[in-house]
Amino acid sequence: MKVSLEGKVAIVTGSGANIGEACARMLAGAGASVVLADINIEGAQRVAEDIQAAGGQAFIHTLELTEEASVRALIGATGERFGRIDILHNNAADTRLEQMAADGSILEMDVAVWDRAFAVNTRGAMLMIKHAAPHMIAAGGGSIINTGSGVAILGDLFNPAYSTSKGAINTLTRNVAAQLGRHNIRCNAVLPGLVLSPLARTMMGSRQIDLVQRHVLLPRPSVPEDIAGVTLFLASDLGSFVTGQIISADGGIVHHTPYYADMIDAMAASEA
Ligand SMILES: NC(=O)c1ccc[n+]([C@@H]2O[C@H](COP(=O)([O-])OP(=O)(O)OC[C@H]3O[C@@H](n4cnc5c(N)ncnc54)[C@H](O)[C@@H]3O)[C@@H](O)[C@H]2O)c1
Repeated sequence: MKVSLEGKVAIVTGSGANIGEACARMLAGAGASVVLADINIEGAQRVAEDIQAAGGQAFIHTLELTEEASVRALIGATGERFGRIDILHNNAADTRLEQMAADGSILEMDVAVWDRAFAVNTRGAMLMIKHAAPHMIAAGGGSIINTGSGVAILGDLFNPAYSTSKGAINTLTRNVAAQLGRHNIRCNAVLPGLVLSPLARTMMGSRQIDLVQRHVLLPRPSVPEDIAGVTLFLASDLGSFVTGQIISADGGIVHHTPYYADMIDAMAASEA
């Protein structure tokens, strides 16, 4: 069966860079008309031009996820232009260096940082679903894909606001799947591990990246296309009976014993 999204209309938030960019490219490559929605409109423009140059259908629309009026305007313009919305990929999150750097110890948490994480990452996704779902209901169904994070299901030393806002994405996913399933709307979440974006490289540095990579079961770092592949599966009919699922696409980093990496080192040392 060929994966085809011909005739489908998709919105991808945060598609002006990195993971969202790869997802928009892959959905467009499968034939969907893709609306690239981002606060970074220059990035969205660049990606849209590339998709169009490759023969795909791409359109841009500015989006500020913290403002319901902005979400309403995006969804309204998409509905007006295409007459339907079939796929919503809630990919955007506030991962700016200043936001993530300020999201450190819970003992020193600035409530503005906490609120910002939820306003963009969680409330923004909810608003997108609230306004897009009526179009899906009218079209007879749809697929919603929320991008979560591996850190949503684990305790960590950094970024508690971000992680908790992503934990809420998992709960939102299951609630949307339950509430909208009878309208033939599926809702799933994809959880990346560490995808080496330029920001991740800046924030972490090579020593920390190596520490994380020791725990990836597969022998390479993750690239944005790893997330895009799962997104395409969930958006297409291949995933037509999958809903309410929280799917890790992380090379197995959260699915092994806590002593896995140390054990590999110990075994290597005993062989030496
Ligand atoms: N890169 C990773 O290692 C990693 C790991 C786990 C989860 N994720 C998740 O994957 C998704 C994409 O991550 P990425 O690394 O590509 O991030 P990124 O920062 O490169 O891209 C995020 C995009 O969202 C947009 N955005 C931010 N705030 C917005 C707002 N208020 N309104 C509209 N758009 C806004 C940005 O402009 C940007 O284009 C995010 O949800 C992130 O939390 C990433």
